[in-house]
Amino acid sequence: MSKKIIVTIDGPAGAGKSTTAKAVAEKTGLPYLDTGALYRAVAWKLDKEGVAPEDGDKIAETLKDFKIEVAGGKVTADGEDVTQAIRTARVDSIVSAYAARPEVRDALAGFQRAQAVNGLVADGRDMGTVIFPDAELKIFLTASAEERARRRCAEREAKGESADYDEILKQVIERDRYDMTREIAPLRPAQGCVILDSTDMSAAEVVDAIASLAKEIEAQENR
Ligand code: DC
Repeated sequence: MSKKIIVTIDGPAGAGKSTTAKAVAEKTGLPYLDTGALYRAVAWKLDKEGVAPEDGDKIAETLKDFKIEVAGGKVTADGEDVTQAIRTARVDSIVSAYAARPEVRDALAGFQRAQAVNGLVADGRDMGTVIFPDAELKIFLTASAEERARRRCAEREAKGESADYDEILKQVIERDRYDMTREIAPLRPAQGCVILDSTDMSAAEVVDAIASLAKEIEAQENR
């Protein structure tokens, strides 16, 4: 059987990681894992249970029996479909605080590694630095804060929601600062990664660049 590789795509919010990773997975035939969705599902659960981000013991206790499933773009938490519920403005605003907790990161680390038995394209913040440091291909996908805010606005408007560019830009910058300066698994380029700045690239160009690298590496690994 041919060896399946692991491709990690990390980067700041709004850089296009999920869309890119999904398309790269399709082009390479590798499974796709959206790790942001896992952190969102955990944040959704802890918020629902009224557990504060500061309460490490309660977080660990609540997550002990918490079951997440991800398949075909659907996210299930304790059997409940939360695919939509984890994308609300409420979850957007609370998820970073929970993601900074070691109890949350520990609870998700094993789950993420277990998904990689048949190779994987995984996007997140610490895929290349912490979860899969030996991945065959590590990408750091970024774009200017202004471009990322513009893309977020366009996404919201496409969904028929109102979007205030200045407010979104402020949130993008604030979330970057939070994710990059947190003590555990801060967002930063992994050792040996390829840094891709997508500010002036189309989505298709980004996908093509990563998919060709992945295919080249997979061919090398199986030579
Ligand atoms: O990519 P996203 O916006 O869905 O991520 C949601 C939050 O989860 C964001 O605050 C960063 C955090 N996250 C993380 O800390 N580590 C990951 N591997 C993925 C996401």
